[in-house]
Amino acid sequence: MSQDYILETRNLVKEFKGFTAVDDVNLKVERGTIHALIGPNGAGKTTVFNLLTKFLTPTRGQLLFNGRDITKADSAAIARMGVVRSFQISAVFPHLTVLENVRVALQQKRTDSFAFWRSEKVLDGLNERALELLDSVGLREFSHAKAVDLPYGRKRSLEIATTLALDPELLLLDEPTQGMGHEDVSVVAELIKEVGKERTILMVEHNLNVVADLSDTITVLQRGAILTEGDYQAVSADPRVREAYMGVEADETSPAASKMEAVG
Ligand SMILES: Nc1ncnc2c1ncn2[C@@H]1O[C@H](COP(=O)(O)OP(=O)(O)OP(=O)(O)O)[C@@H](O)[C@H]1O
Ligand SMILES: [Mg+2]
Repeated sequence: MSQDYILETRNLVKEFKGFTAVDDVNLKVERGTIHALIGPNGAGKTTVFNLLTKFLTPTRGQLLFNGRDITKADSAAIARMGVVRSFQISAVFPHLTVLENVRVALQQKRTDSFAFWRSEKVLDGLNERALELLDSVGLREFSHAKAVDLPYGRKRSLEIATTLALDPELLLLDEPTQGMGHEDVSVVAELIKEVGKERTILMVEHNLNVVADLSDTITVLQRGAILTEGDYQAVSADPRVREAYMGVEADETSPAASKMEAVG
């Protein structure tokens, strides 16, 4: 049986004034999996995300979503198809409450049926769905707090809730645990795991413990190109990956090597 890929890139290339940031990338994301894109700083991870959501136009190559060529689609069309990228905290309205933020996101999804929202009943239904979403990210007790007053980790949870409100088929997360303390990392990792049960997730993540814990498949990028791919065990055992991360040949005493081993 052939595998079911929700997303594929074919020979994807992005050049910036002669500099190749993404170099002939053939990425295949299997439906229903959590797929991590990792690699050293400047490897091209964010650029790949920008190409997938058409924030950037590929120099060459193809993008396929559910087998359909979306290379020429614009970012709004791609979002409507169900590819949603979690934006950083700026996507959350700081002076609205947690509940209001999720309601706004839910309403965004239905902007095409304006009159529909005038009925009280529908608005109640909206509240119900918003509270459900807040439950699913562990924020119900914060529903009346202003977004701006939430602790950092909770803001990321809210951000994920507003993304889920759009009911994405494919969720793109760029460094979801960036800048978080240990406790928040666990909360968000648990949330991603939960959310990943019902949809496909492609995430860029630097925290290798999170990557090891969550990912079904890992693609390692280096200088714009795919270095290797596989599950955590295979990828972390690859000497080229250790070298890419450390810039030198791996040895047993180096902290990065022991970090990869500790979780592998
Ligand atoms: N708009 C741009 N113009 C010119 N060069 C760019 C542009 N965007 C990215 N680059 C370059 O492309 C390369 C890849 O950058 P990118 O941000 O995709 O890396 P990354 O893997 O996300 O890194 P990090 O882990 O630091 O977030 C870098 O060398 C970067 O300087
Ligand atoms: Mg980046």
